[in-house]
Formats: sequence, structure tokens, C-alpha cells
Amino acid sequence: MPATRTQLSQAYPIGSRIDEDGRLQLGGCDAVELAREFGTPAYIVSEDDLRARAQTFVEAFRARTTDFDVLFASKAFPCTAIYRVLASEGIACDVASGGELALALRGGFDPARIYLHGNAKSIAELQYAREAGVGHIVVDNADEIERLEAVVGDGTPQPVMLRVTPDVRGRTNDKISTGQADSKFGFSMVDAPGAIERVQASEQLDLVGLHMHIGSQILELEPFRLSIEAIAPLGDFGTYNLGGGLGVAYTADDEPPRIADYVAAKVDTVNRVLGPGKRILDEPGRALVANSTVTLYTVQSVKRNVSTWVGVDGGMSDNLRPMLYGSVYEAQIADRFGGGTLSRLAGKHCESGDVIVREVELHDPRVGDVVVTPATGAYGHAMANNYNGVPRPPVIMVSHGDARVVVRRETYDDLFARDVG
Ligand code: LLP
Repeated sequence: MPATRTQLSQAYPIGSRIDEDGRLQLGGCDAVELAREFGTPAYIVSEDDLRARAQTFVEAFRARTTDFDVLFASKAFPCTAIYRVLASEGIACDVASGGELALALRGGFDPARIYLHGNAKSIAELQYAREAGVGHIVVDNADEIERLEAVVGDGTPQPVMLRVTPDVRGRTNDKISTGQADSKFGFSMVDAPGAIERVQASEQLDLVGLHMHIGSQILELEPFRLSIEAIAPLGDFGTYNLGGGLGVAYTADDEPPRIADYVAAKVDTVNRVLGPGKRILDEPGRALVANSTVTLYTVQSVKRNVSTWVGVDGGMSDNLRPMLYGSVYEAQIADRFGGGTLSRLAGKHCESGDVIVREVELHDPRVGDVVVTPATGAYGHAMANNYNGVPRPPVIMVSHGDARVVVRRETYDDLFARDVG
């Protein structure tokens, strides 16, 4: 007999449960019903989970300091409705391009509380940020200093932060590690003192402090502490933006630090090493949104050769992470949790590498089953694409038994929408 499960792992949104009939409930909605109503694949976001995590971050800071801001690193889930929910929770916003800036403004963020990032900002993006009244621009390199000065001209000086790379590595995938000396982001510890002097002498730029971000999906706290210690010799500033990076649980086996412990580690280290009274900014992306969301798929084929291949109607177009980083996800059949059939959950794309989960125990998978993969809120919708002409999934927000479409499914017409002639 396949083992049936009644407990959800911590990868699922807060408030999700398996009901008495063994069916997954998300934000008070039945997952299989959601699939029927909105089609698959679909991203299902629990609004309450999003709000709860935002509040947890803010409360964790409030418990330890009075001068802070939590910024949503919006590259993780750049979707107007998500910006809206997080703006309404009173947090600020990090954008990494003109496009994310446009989304953040549309989502209701006060431009004064937006921080613009990027290692290769264009003049057009800098001008857009100025026109929009973006509060802070995070200067990444020497060329940008010149450009931004030219864009500011004799206008009011632009508050900036200077991004530095502390030469501290957190344990994570190389592709998302940024703290090492040989990084495309920020000024190295060697170049930072000169850049600080240069910006402090600028008439167009007003240096308010330093920024760093050492990488993403980091599951230990020590690298965060070490990075704060590492930048201490660069001088005494009023504001420090410590980046994001807190890892999350993708599966039952992952044990990320609690948000409160992550915040405590950062704030306590700033107080100890940089001194009390500093304004502390933090930029969580993944930890705010990853576990708010699950993806629903429908099984299209079950084929047995050496393995059991369970083919679903999405894949690397809605979740590139397994393909890009070898990321491991959980999967279950939404109304038949359990195991018994060791399966490969395969996407529909024309590449052998398009496998969503390489080894997963499913409970007797059949064509037509709705399959759920949790923890797809961060960098899922964000990196979705149209490979093989597959329309991108909708984003459905659920809360207290209500479900509403906040991004509609793409259509074939959308695939032609940019054609001219
Ligand atoms: N701040 C800066 C300047 C960043 O570059 C990033 C992420 C963050 C904050 C937020 O980091 P988080 O809290 O989400 O770890 N596509 C990859 C992740 C790329 C992260 C890029 N920068 C993935 O799917 O894992």
C-alpha cells in the first residue's frame, strides 16, 4: 500500500493543509478545483502567506532597532499584484531595471522608497529613475558614477548608496553567489575606498551609505556576519543596505534559518561591528515570496521505461530553476498525497534536461492528475519564458476561500503581439 501523507512540508504556503478527504487546500481553496477553474499550469499565490512573511520581517527588525527598512527585492516576483500586497504591508522596494521600476510604480510603491540596482544601468534607466523621483540609486561601478553625474547635471543631488563586494562567499550555487572579489557586481574592497572618496567629492551625488549583497539561497548565518565585519574598514556611514540572500525550504529536508534569527544576526553584527544607531536596510526577495506560491500542473502522460516518466503541461518555461541551478523541488498529486511510485516529473519542452523533479515519490500517478510543486514563488514567474511557444501561466491569488486572477494566462495571440508586418 502506498503511504498516504496528511502532513505538508514547510515548503507549502502558511495555512495550506490536506483536508479530511486527502485533498490539498490552499488559502481555503481546493487545489484540484483551482486547476479545473483556471487551467494549468498555474501559479497559485497565498496572499496571507505573503503578508505574514512581510510582517515577520518588519516585526523582527522592530524588535531590535528603530531605524530600518525592509525592501522587497522585486526581481523575485515582479508582478503588479505582488508589489501591491507588499507595498500595502508598508515595506520598501528594490528594482533592478527600468522595467521593474515601472512595475513597482504601477504596484503603488512610493518612488522615494524605491532603490534602483544594476551593474549595467543605461542612461535611459538612470533618467527614468530621476524623473520618477527614485529615492536611492545604488551605484555599482566607476562608469556609472560618471553617467549618473551627467544625468543629474545641475539638478538636485541624487542620494546614492555604493555597492561593495566584501569578498565573503556564502555556500550557494556559483551562479547566484555575488560576494566574492571576482564579481560583476559592485566595487571590490580594493577599489571601494577610491570610489567612496570620488562620490563624496561629487556635487551631483549624495552618498548616504554602503550596499552589499553576497548571494542568494544562503542557509547559514555566518557569511552574513562575516560580510558585515569585512566592510567595517571602509569607514563610518549612516546607512547600510545588507542585501538579501536568506534561503528558504524547497523541500522537507531544507532547514533555513528563521527570519527572526537572520534579522538578529544582521542587526546584532551591525551594532557590534559598525556601531549603534545605524540605519539598516535589508533586501529579501526569495524569503518574502518563495513559499507563498505553488505551481499546479496536469499530468499528460505516464510512461515506463528505465524510469517512470510523469509528463506534465509545463516545465522549464514556468520553472527554469531545476534546469539552471539543479534546484530540487517536491511534488505531489494534489488530491492523493503519498508515495509508492518513484517518478521523474518531466516538463513538456523539447529537451531531455526539462525535468522538474528528478526523483519524486508519487502515489500512483495517472493521466489527468493535478500535480503540485511548492515553493515556486521566487524566480518562477520572474524567469518564465515562451520556449516552444508555450504561453506563460496565470498568477492566481487565493485568500480565505476566494481565488482571483491577477495575471491572466498568455494566449497564442500574445505570441504574435509584438510582430510588425
Ligand atoms: N538584493 C540584490 C542586490 C540582489 O541582487 C538580489 C538577488 C536580492 C537582493 C535578493 O536576493 P534573495 O533574497 O532573493 O536571495 N534567479 C536566481 C536568484 C537570483 C538572485 C539575484 N539577486 C534563483 O532563482 O535562485
